[in-house]
Amino acid sequence: MNSKLVDSVEKYVKKQIEEYKESSLDHYDFWEEHVKYVYDESMLLAGVYGADKEIVALGALLHDIALINRVGEKKDHHINGEIIARGLLTKFNYDEKKKERVLKCIYNHRSSNNAQSIEELCVADADILAHFDNVQMLLNIVYNKEHLNGREAKEWLKEALEKDYNDLSVKTKEKYRYKYKKICDYYLENR
Ligand SMILES: [Fe+2]
Ligand SMILES: [Fe+2]
Repeated sequence: MNSKLVDSVEKYVKKQIEEYKESSLDHYDFWEEHVKYVYDESMLLAGVYGADKEIVALGALLHDIALINRVGEKKDHHINGEIIARGLLTKFNYDEKKKERVLKCIYNHRSSNNAQSIEELCVADADILAHFDNVQMLLNIVYNKEHLNGREAKEWLKEALEKDYNDLSVKTKEKYRYKYKKICDYYLENR
């Protein structure tokens, strides 16, 4: 793995996140709330599935870069993310073939069903698993953005977790069944 490049990309992403945090209305910390979890989960999956860790690491770090850089609409962030990452990786003189593989991880990160390679699958699944690692963030959405409470909030969270779990690839679903059940038990039954 080209650790120097991965480190440089991580620094770039963190710097962009700082800028977002300081100048946005919601001051959302993409690193602490989301990207670090996607990165960690994607590296775990890459190890288990024998994926190319360099491709997965770069894909995970850059997968939401269009949201962080506030380019275009949310619905198009996989498309704009690919464009931004292409420019960045070209600037770093990154190998053409590897670059295309990373870009596909970004373009196809929004559903594991779109994944055409094991690296793409690692990033797409990790994007979902990040929610399981930070359920508090989902709860913040329930309370602050959706303004739901009590029963409604529980229902919203149940649907969100269910949708996430169902969006995982078949093999990751299998691996995370227990964790998903534990999360549901904790957040949906005991509250
Ligand atoms: Fe995304
Ligand atoms: Fe994401």
